[in-house]
Amino acid sequence: MTHQVARTLAPAKVNLALYVGARREDGFHELVTVFQAISLADEVEVRLGPASGDATTRLVVTGPDLGPEHDNLAWRAADALRRVAHVAGSIEIRLTKHIPAGAGLGGGSSDAAAVLRCLAVLVGHDDPGALNAVAAALGSDVPFFLGASPTAAGRGRGERIDRLPPLPERALVVAMPSVHVSTPGAYAALASQREGRPAPRLPEVPTPLSWDAVLGGFGHNDFEDVVAPRHPEIAASLSGLRDAGAEMAMLSGSGAASFGLMPNGRDGRAVAERLSDHHDWPFLPHRTLSSLPPVERVRDRATGGP
Ligand code: C5P
Repeated sequence: MTHQVARTLAPAKVNLALYVGARREDGFHELVTVFQAISLADEVEVRLGPASGDATTRLVVTGPDLGPEHDNLAWRAADALRRVAHVAGSIEIRLTKHIPAGAGLGGGSSDAAAVLRCLAVLVGHDDPGALNAVAAALGSDVPFFLGASPTAAGRGRGERIDRLPPLPERALVVAMPSVHVSTPGAYAALASQREGRPAPRLPEVPTPLSWDAVLGGFGHNDFEDVVAPRHPEIAASLSGLRDAGAEMAMLSGSGAASFGLMPNGRDGRAVAERLSDHHDWPFLPHRTLSSLPPVERVRDRATGGP
């Protein structure tokens, strides 16, 4: 039986800036963020069976146990696009995890977007508006990973994406303490910290956005003040990165991961190694991406071929 196969890398993101504004009627918060894709990535392969075959959707994960298949954003992405684009035939997603789940690095969202990108190529779905709507319904971070640009501003609840000129690549060190931070909990903590005061006005994204602008004050995460004091591992990650020579260290999303930007021209390997030696959790050397990984169509090895 012949399958059509496509694969791609699903990169993680960090937030170079994350400003949280007022809570909306629908419970989400208005925000202004800058997403930046990085070299840490999951591997995603999508295998589409013939239209005459069964219409099952399956997720096969290599790596940590991610819980029930149907709760996984990657599975839900395939299921949602199947309905929208009337995809017949079996869909098998092969996901190899490298991005820790629930860390503020967008791993689940990126996997979901990668499934949408692969499946769209396989079925010839060419309606970016519809794909974007499917992505936004899956989660606030998913549209960014559809790949307009590796650096992009997110507004609304984070799902309204405006591409920014990609920033020159830069080394960063990502700290991954194994503590869990609840995202709704982080929003609630921020709300109680702000109780009685109006929500702060959201800033404009400097244009053009440059590393100087990020390092010169725009780079900031509103969650840091409420999340870091509650989790000693996160506070220690941030201070460790700063002491080790990062030009700037910030929380990503609502944590638990944080990252330090290395001075221009320096790679982060020695810093990552030293910090990993002195803490009970990993610090990994990575770099920002100046382009997003493309979808590749591949010959189906399982069914052979010439
Ligand atoms: O959209 P996503 O599934 O990532 O959001 C997870 C949770 O984070 C939401 O249910 C909501 O509690 C909170 N959230 C929010 N405002 C946003 C994004 C997320 O309050 N802009």
